[in-house]
Amino acid sequence: MANLKTLVMPFSRISVIIWVILFSTVKPDCEKISTRSVMCPGQKYTEIPQHFEPSIKELILPYNNISQLKADNLKQYLDVRYLNLDANGIESTHSLKAINVFKNLERLSISDNHISMFEFQVFAQNVHLKEIIANDNTNMFLIEKCNFFPKLESLCLKGNNIQQFPSEVVKCLPNLRHLDLRNNQLSTLPSNIKEILPKIETILLSNNSITVEELDPFILSKSDLHNEAKSSSNVKNNLVKNDQGVVFNESNIKNFDNGTDSRSENNSGVIFAAISVTFAVIAVSVVVIVVFIYFRNK
Ligand SMILES: *[C@@H]1O[C@H](CO)[C@@H](O)[C@H](O)[C@H]1NC(C)=O
Ligand SMILES: *[C@@H]1O[C@H](CO)[C@@H](O)[C@H](O)[C@H]1NC(C)=O
Ligand SMILES: *[C@@H]1O[C@H](CO)[C@@H](O)[C@H](O)[C@H]1NC(C)=O
Ligand SMILES: *[C@@H]1O[C@H](CO)[C@@H](O)[C@H](O)[C@H]1NC(C)=O
Repeated sequence: MANLKTLVMPFSRISVIIWVILFSTVKPDCEKISTRSVMCPGQKYTEIPQHFEPSIKELILPYNNISQLKADNLKQYLDVRYLNLDANGIESTHSLKAINVFKNLERLSISDNHISMFEFQVFAQNVHLKEIIANDNTNMFLIEKCNFFPKLESLCLKGNNIQQFPSEVVKCLPNLRHLDLRNNQLSTLPSNIKEILPKIETILLSNNSITVEELDPFILSKSDLHNEAKSSSNVKNNLVKNDQGVVFNESNIKNFDNGTDSRSENNSGVIFAAISVTFAVIAVSVVVIVVFIYFRNK
């Protein structure tokens, strides 16, 4: 039985450590998840704080009060790949122009701000950007000028009351695979969108004023409007006649999720919850094992 005791000791130590980690993770204030990632929601920051590890790769700062980025504050974090400034006080992408300091930036999330002017040019130096998420800003105008984004795969502009998606902008996104334009006020898409988005896999367009009949069959087949199309045999006939190389055919159409697009949601909360749940499960299991061994030992 001495053997079992030596077995139990490390277990109880581990469970104490796990509980400490668990409780420090659940704390609602600033959390450093690891040396590569900080998550600090709701800290009332008005600028990027200076006290994080310089090697940090993920800066997740939603629900703060940052309205502007200052190069002096960004300079020490040259390795940032993911910046999340959801639900801050940003009113224009112009006030983010210091972001050019983040040469390695791959993912940017600026949803739930009040960005009225969205200028792709501001991100001209961030040539590694793969994903931009800027959902639910109240009234957004997309400025036509643009620079080439060779790596951008995913662009989410849901819920911005956007009235026009300029073809100048579309031309800058040769690698785009996912485009979320739901809940806007678009009535048309650029006519050549099919040619200039050769890699497109999904275009989410529901809750706009776009009429399915006017949509290019190829784009329709990639979009979440295909259900509407399916329910209208007229449209289906049009599409067959109008075929430009890609047949609008039910068996060629992917199933789209009805509703949330996981990529477009603020995932800091999900990461946070996942980590907490994982720790909780581990901790509970360890406690159960310890109690079990203890009573068996008696
Ligand atoms: C956010 O910052 C601005 C100044 O940039 C300030 O006027 C405002 O009161 C702040 N809001 C909150 C909720 O802290
Ligand atoms: C459609 O978009 C408007 C404006 O963004 C939004 O208020 C509304 O809730 C959306 N409707 C649905 C069914 O998503
Ligand atoms: C739809 O596509 C499938 C294969 O992808 C094919 O077998 C079928 O004949 C097509 N139907 C029409 C109506 O073109
Ligand atoms: C899709 O969502 C709409 C509105 O959110 C709803 O009316 C419809 O029933 C949903 N369809 C399916 C198949 O879930």
